[in-house]
Amino acid sequence: MELCGTALSCTPAAFLLLHLGLISTKAHENEFQIGLAGEEVTLNCMDIIPDSKLTRDTVVSWKYYNTLLCRMDKFSFWKTSAFIADRFDIKAPHKQLQVRNLKLSDAGIYTCEYGSHKVRTSLHILKLTLSLDGHFLQNEVPELILMQNSSGPLPDLNIILFDSNNNRVTAELQNKNRRKYIASLKKLEAMDSGTWVCQVRSDSPLINQNISFAVKVLGFQNPDLERKYATVDSTVTLSWHLNSQKIKWKEVFTGQLNWKQQEGANAHELLDFNVTAQGQLHETKKSSSFLFEIPERKPESTIEVKLPKVHFNHSGQYQCQLEYQGRYAQSKIELVVMKVSANPAGPLSRGANMTLTCQVSGLLPPGAYLRWERVNGTEMDIKNSKQQEVKLEVNISAAGLWSCHLIEDSDRKISLHYLVEEAPVWINYVIIGAAVGGSLLAFALGCLCIISGINWQRRRQRAKRMAQARQHLLENKTCQCQHRLKK
Ligand SMILES: *[C@@H]1O[C@H](CO)[C@@H](O)[C@H](O)[C@H]1NC(C)=O
Ligand SMILES: *[C@@H]1O[C@H](CO)[C@@H](O)[C@H](O)[C@H]1NC(C)=O
Ligand SMILES: *[C@@H]1O[C@H](CO)[C@@H](O)[C@H](O)[C@H]1NC(C)=O
Ligand SMILES: *[C@@H]1O[C@H](CO)[C@@H](O)[C@H](O)[C@H]1NC(C)=O
Ligand SMILES: *[C@@H]1O[C@H](CO)[C@@H](O)[C@H](O)[C@H]1NC(C)=O
Ligand SMILES: *[C@@H]1O[C@H](CO)[C@@H](O)[C@H](O)[C@H]1NC(C)=O
Ligand SMILES: *[C@@H]1O[C@H](CO)[C@@H](O)[C@H](O)[C@H]1NC(C)=O
Repeated sequence: MELCGTALSCTPAAFLLLHLGLISTKAHENEFQIGLAGEEVTLNCMDIIPDSKLTRDTVVSWKYYNTLLCRMDKFSFWKTSAFIADRFDIKAPHKQLQVRNLKLSDAGIYTCEYGSHKVRTSLHILKLTLSLDGHFLQNEVPELILMQNSSGPLPDLNIILFDSNNNRVTAELQNKNRRKYIASLKKLEAMDSGTWVCQVRSDSPLINQNISFAVKVLGFQNPDLERKYATVDSTVTLSWHLNSQKIKWKEVFTGQLNWKQQEGANAHELLDFNVTAQGQLHETKKSSSFLFEIPERKPESTIEVKLPKVHFNHSGQYQCQLEYQGRYAQSKIELVVMKVSANPAGPLSRGANMTLTCQVSGLLPPGAYLRWERVNGTEMDIKNSKQQEVKLEVNISAAGLWSCHLIEDSDRKISLHYLVEEAPVWINYVIIGAAVGGSLLAFALGCLCIISGINWQRRRQRAKRMAQARQHLLENKTCQCQHRLKK
């Protein structure tokens, strides 16, 4: 036994998560208490009078089973080698035994004796551990292990789990024995980060304990797969929002952004990045052949690339991948680019045909199709593609403003316009005149003044129509739409 003087620790009582599940059996001297591994517990020496009122010769002692831990009187404090100095404390003035950083092996019977009094406390220990130290990437499935230990027979525990939104999680539970329970939780999403609760219950001994634990899920605030539509030559910005800042992820991780034109094609690395423990993002541009910019001003924890004047052949899969301790998580944006063209390209002569082609660069989701229509045209001027067709051709004989729309679930996701100008009419007249033959040249020349009069009139009308059409084109500014695909 060694002498430690009377310097009793007065660590503030932190009854954190402690549940005094008192069971009043025969005498109040039999207590039951639950402790959580890693936390602390304070065992009471019930009904003891405070220090100041203790008589000179009262000796108080604490035992673990039959092993003496310490003994004290009004003036001195003695502890044995079983009293683990860095975890045990006696709290004045009520002589409570405090045990910090609890271990499963701390379970058992603790007895406080003074005078003729004996207070027995059965300490039941619960230990909850989470795989990977609670640090996950999205789509990982955590494993929870709950263990218990006590002096008596172990109860059959009823375990219910709640996620950070307080929704009950149906976990697959396997317990080989009552000592250890293993539960596979659900596949995690970035928004599952937060405080989860494990509710532990049993009837005898009566246990109703909530154990909260932190889950951090590093990932993207984007869905796993997003589809973004753009018209050719427009400026496209692709963004991935990391949730590291939001969930206060304090570990270093890295990542990269890759592009490939289609499934199975070679991936091109566009940039790589790392995020420090302080949350600082560093990006390094990797590709010089691919024209893109990293915007200077962007939201925090965001990976972003800007494609100025996007090419039709820059469509495809942009995948942002992050890596943490050899594990990976990714989020893809599928960029679909639309273009239109005409054959022949020039102005449309009266009575002639022209083929307009509208094309998208990637596969369309089910329920999506293309539509050509003439602005302010008739029903006859509308043509739809079959679902998921990536190219739509239409033969037109009416000039005006034509629009190609990509329609998904009856929403116009994106539109591109093509202005078909009407060829000047005089060309037709001159051709007709020429066909009549040289002998009628004089007649033709005679008519020219009349024709040019008509021609002038028509040109004025045409110019007016075209001006209206251009105005319309400006009003219907080419739009880019973004569509989120649910998995
Ligand atoms: C359970 O507690 C007892 C004492 O009550 C101890 O001897 C045993 O080592 C503990 N078991 C574990 C797994 O810590
Ligand atoms: C334990 O947590 C659940 C879910 O948050 C709650 O419904 C229940 O009332 C809590 N029980 C105790 C004893 O705190
Ligand atoms: C993070 O990126 C910066 C800039 O590319 C680089 O200097 C630094 O070494 C990287 N740090 C880690 C931990 O990869
Ligand atoms: C895409 O097409 C443009 C011209 O249409 C060309 O200059 C460019 O090299 C092409 N890029 C790729 C990656 O094929
Ligand atoms: C124009 O197309 C229509 C049907 O698409 C066809 O009937 C007509 O013959 C075509 N005219 C010319 C001049 O090609
Ligand atoms: C358009 O017209 C061309 C010939 O003028 C013809 O080969 C083609 O099949 C037509 N296309 C449609 C969609 O009618
Ligand atoms: C379509 O009709 C509207 C309303 O009549 C008119 O304002 C617009 O200029 C027309 N657009 C074209 C391209 O003719």
